[in-house]
Amino acid sequence: MYYFGTYEDRAKNFDWSISEKELEYKAGDVLNIGWYCSDRICKMGKGDKPALLWENQAGKEKRYTYHDVRRASNTIGAFLRGLGIKDGDRVCLFMDKVPELYIGFLGVLKIGAIAQPLFSAFGDESLFIRLNDAQTKAIITQRKHAPKVRKILDKLPALEHLIIIDHDPARPLGPREVAFSLDGAAPVETLDIFPTKAEMPSVLHYTSGTTGQPKGVKHVHYSLIGQYLTARWVLDIHDDDIYWCTADPGWVTGTSYGIIAPWALGATQVVLDSGFSAEAWYRFAEKMKVTVWYSAPTAIRSLMKAGDEIVKKFNLSSLRHLASVGEPLNPEAVIWSERVFGLPFHDTYWQTETGAIMLTNFPGMKIKPGSMGRPFPGITATVLDPKTYEPITEPGRVGLIAFQPGWPSMMRTYWNNEHTYKAKFKNGWYLSGDRARIDKDGYFWFTGRDDDIINTGGHLVSPFEVESALLEHQAVAESAVVAKPDEVNMEVVKAFVTLKPGFTPSPDLELEIMNFIRKKLSPLAMPQEIEYVDSLPKTRSGKIMRRVLHAKEWGEEIGDLSTLEND
Ligand code: WT7
Repeated sequence: MYYFGTYEDRAKNFDWSISEKELEYKAGDVLNIGWYCSDRICKMGKGDKPALLWENQAGKEKRYTYHDVRRASNTIGAFLRGLGIKDGDRVCLFMDKVPELYIGFLGVLKIGAIAQPLFSAFGDESLFIRLNDAQTKAIITQRKHAPKVRKILDKLPALEHLIIIDHDPARPLGPREVAFSLDGAAPVETLDIFPTKAEMPSVLHYTSGTTGQPKGVKHVHYSLIGQYLTARWVLDIHDDDIYWCTADPGWVTGTSYGIIAPWALGATQVVLDSGFSAEAWYRFAEKMKVTVWYSAPTAIRSLMKAGDEIVKKFNLSSLRHLASVGEPLNPEAVIWSERVFGLPFHDTYWQTETGAIMLTNFPGMKIKPGSMGRPFPGITATVLDPKTYEPITEPGRVGLIAFQPGWPSMMRTYWNNEHTYKAKFKNGWYLSGDRARIDKDGYFWFTGRDDDIINTGGHLVSPFEVESALLEHQAVAESAVVAKPDEVNMEVVKAFVTLKPGFTPSPDLELEIMNFIRKKLSPLAMPQEIEYVDSLPKTRSGKIMRRVLHAKEWGEEIGDLSTLEND
């Protein structure tokens, strides 16, 4: 046992000032995440400690100490400043999991600009919606992703710079394009770090909404206080740990716990920039001697599927603590990991909006496989009656997961969308949009989302976004998008479509439509199945009843339709 005290001890007299004290932060001080994640660690005498051990699919390796990260993020920060990027400007990071993504993130924060990470598999339409909404001033990308940006440049007058980190000098730069190479640039030893205060914006993450377009979740530098302490206590990261967060920084897990928390803790983290394969993952964990591993249920289920035999080919005895987030973690996965690794996966629950872990299987706490655990100390969590929005007091009754606002890493608003932000609160509670029941011991059990959003492999996909994109295909007249069950990803996207006159259903057309969505939005949003129908179930006012189609897919009772029909 290695953890920092029991849940009960930690919950007693809890105060976020514990985190502030450890970080030597006092109200009113300058607080810059970029500085905390590099300069401060060097100042503490750990400059020569490895901060990032990186490897890609081809087996290429890179190593960065904290001094390297400090200097390289200074270098990127100075370069951006030289382009005229100022505090408050949005800078998008649109890269695979290359070192420039992690270090560039700090560089953006160091000059007081707002980091807007976007998943590199996004297609031009997904990209356009998010860059347009944020009025992003610069985007940092790799040459392989640059064409997607070039395609929408004309529609984005606010986007002044397209920065390419691996530009091919043989090719001329296009309009607004600029080349930057971290290896080639003169290292900047000292940078005037922008004196951000706690409440100044730091990160803008886009998350899918049920109805409208994706929403920009605005976080502030003070989020560090929550991310730091939750990582320390829940992920149990100690000074000598080798930490592996498998999430992509295009999503919040990959920034909160894939950049900010581990580096603010001065830990050594490892990154594997490649697609999933059980063999490659085990090999990497063995080679890097990973001790703490934060991953996601879909990955765990894929490892389970690869079987127990393959695990035996590797020496994974370095593993000490395992945690998971993003979607329901089935009890079988917890039991399996205990069998093959001798360690259970500790489920954690949180959201882009919460910025940090909210519900947790705290290290040392009794794990009930299938449960998300209990609220992190200092978090007041409940389930509300869906009609009255009053806390449910009897154990076991399903309600809406809600939190009392005010934890440090909570989003401060949705970008340009205060109205939707306000709608997330009822009776003084923040509504997560998920449902759960709480048992007599205070453990939370996830039962489902309270909206139509699809959680595929831990990634949220809005049916609205996919439906809108489908309508842009010449053959599609109408569409309805719902989740369909899947063994590994839990849910995948399925589209029901009616065709325009002159088009006939065929497998070829199905493939064409799938590819259309994959390119426009992303591989995650691509329907895994398209079902041609003559008409879609609708309410009297013409609204498509996704619920009916969803129930059919999941073999559930359709329930009372009378309310829907009157919508
Ligand atoms: C949604 C948030 C912040 C983590 C990455 C996802 C679902 C998250 C769990 C869990 C069941 C979970 C919820 C939540 N979710 N963790 N342990 N068990 N469901 O962030 O993209 O904002 O998604 O993921 O539905 O609302 P996100």
